[in-house]
Amino acid sequence: MTKSSQPIAVITGASSGIGAASALTLSNDGWRVVLVARRADRLEELATTIREAGGEAMVEALDASRGSAVNEMADRVLAIWGAPSLVVNSAGAGIWRFLEETTPAEIDSMIGAPYLAAAQTSRAFIGEMIAAGRGLLIHVGSPASVIPWPGATAYTASRWALRGLHEALCQDLRGTGVRSSLIYFGEVSSEYFQVNPGSHEHIPSLGSWISVSSPESCAEIVLDVVRRPRPVVYHPFALRLMVWTAALAPAPTRWLIARTGRRRGNRNL
Ligand SMILES: NC(=O)c1ccc[n+]([C@@H]2O[C@H](COP(=O)([O-])OP(=O)(O)OC[C@H]3O[C@@H](n4cnc5c(N)ncnc54)[C@H](OP(=O)(O)O)[C@@H]3O)[C@@H](O)[C@H]2O)c1
Repeated sequence: MTKSSQPIAVITGASSGIGAASALTLSNDGWRVVLVARRADRLEELATTIREAGGEAMVEALDASRGSAVNEMADRVLAIWGAPSLVVNSAGAGIWRFLEETTPAEIDSMIGAPYLAAAQTSRAFIGEMIAAGRGLLIHVGSPASVIPWPGATAYTASRWALRGLHEALCQDLRGTGVRSSLIYFGEVSSEYFQVNPGSHEHIPSLGSWISVSSPESCAEIVLDVVRRPRPVVYHPFALRLMVWTAALAPAPTRWLIARTGRRRGNRNL
């Protein structure tokens, strides 16, 4: 395959964690990768690693929650490389706090990524994908949009918005050849909890029986979904078990999660 015939993937959140690992894994699998995040130096570093290994990478340093910036990026990608057949929406941030502890700016930025970033990036390429009759939009979600836990209010709401985007796209895209996939990961050993200090302490102790995944193992799941697209994927298996339990017994599961999660003062649940 010549380089110009290699498929193109746009990956948001590519400067760190799941997004960076996915970009590397996809590049090793023969994809040309467009690296999107705000920190240009981190993206350049990853692009150099990819190029040294014989891959092709385009660096797009921008705030993916801004529609105008995403549109300009999409114009450049389409002009230079052409239409991508894969978008991986992994840009996301957000500190876990009760709503009254969260600042107005934090609420804005949490809805900015992942939700607005995923909506803007998917929107920018979906028309080309529909015209081509094929394509895949992968969204990196959180179990908070299935089983919420206490003390992560704006974070949880933004992940529900992402899940809503995915569910709506699944309906919209029927018969187009384009698919939407939502991957739920349990805890991942990325920089997330350093970038969002204080959040880790809000994981309910019940969550400790779900093993921590590496960004690299998450990237393997992303690649697996690329090869075999399906609407919803949970990783690891213990997370899937917890979701099944929550579906069978929603009230007891929510009670248990609240009971083993963060409390305000001595409030009795
Ligand atoms: N870590 C976990 O335990 C875990 C578990 C389940 C789900 N998730 C979800 O997975 C997603 C990725 O998390 P991660 O663990 O890979 O975290 P991470 O290592 O902190 O990476 C987050 C990425 O998002 C980018 N980003 C944030 N805001 C952005 C914006 N406005 N525009 C463009 N890029 C933006 C960051 O880059 P810049 O700062 O350079 O922009 C960074 O590349 C998040 O939505 C997270 O909630 C994480």
